[in-house]
Amino acid sequence: MKIIITENEEKFDREGAVLFTRQALKKPDTTFALATGDTTRNIFALAAVMHNELKVDYSLCKTCNLDEYAGVAADDKRSCRYRINEVLLDKINIKKENTYVPDGLCSPPEKELEIFKKKIESFGGIDYLIMGIGSNGHIGFNEPGTPLDSSFRVAELSLETRKDKIKVFGSFDQTPKFGITMGIRDIMASREILLAAKGKSKAEVIRRIVHGDLSIDVPASAVRLHPSLTILADKEAASLL
Ligand code: F6R
Repeated sequence: MKIIITENEEKFDREGAVLFTRQALKKPDTTFALATGDTTRNIFALAAVMHNELKVDYSLCKTCNLDEYAGVAADDKRSCRYRINEVLLDKINIKKENTYVPDGLCSPPEKELEIFKKKIESFGGIDYLIMGIGSNGHIGFNEPGTPLDSSFRVAELSLETRKDKIKVFGSFDQTPKFGITMGIRDIMASREILLAAKGKSKAEVIRRIVHGDLSIDVPASAVRLHPSLTILADKEAASLL
C-alpha cells in the first residue's frame, strides 16, 4: 500500500489529476472505473484541463462508473451519469460508446446487473479504479455489513449515506433508497486502485483501513489486501494515521 498525503485540498486535487493522467499516458487503452462525488469532482476537472493543455489522448480509453442511483434518470443533474459527463467525459476525447454507467431507470434494477458485469468484461476488466469513500466506510454503494465477496448488486443505501447525499438531492426525502453498484469483489478485481479521501469526516475511516482489522463493518477495509493500492489523502483525512 502506498499512501500519499497532501498539505491541502488544492494539492490533493492536483495529485489525483496527475495520477489519473499518468495512467492514460502509460496505457492509452486503459479501462478506468470512476466514482462521482465531492472527493473526485475536482480531480476529474483538473484531469480534463490537463487533457486540453497537454493533449493527453483518451480516444482508446474506456470508462465505467462504480455505481448509479436507482430511480434516477441519466439526464437528471443529480445522477452519476450526468455528473461524470459534465465534469470529465464531455471534456475529453473519449468515445461515448466506450463509457458506461448503469441505467438508474432500469426496471427492475436487478436487470441491469448482468449488463453491468458483461460490459466490464467486454472492456477487458478494470485497469485503474478511482474512488472516494463514505465516512461510514462505504465504497461504491457497499454499506457496512456488505460481505467482502459481494458482486454486482442493488444495494440499500444506509441512513447515514442518504443524509450525506442531501448535498446532492436537496432533501432527505428526495435521496434514493437504493443504488446499483459494483460489489466489493468487483472493486478488488481491478488491477490498480486509487482511494481518495479528503476532510476530517474521513479521518477515522482512513485510520481503520490503514491500522484497523479487516471487517465487514468497514467495507473499505478490504482494499488493504489489494496488491496495488494507493491512498491519496489530504492532511485532515490523514490526521489519525
Ligand atoms: C459515488 C460513490 C460513493 C462516493 C462516496 C463519497 O459514485 O461511489 O461511494 O465515493 O459516497 O462521496 P463524496 O466524495 O461526495 O464524499
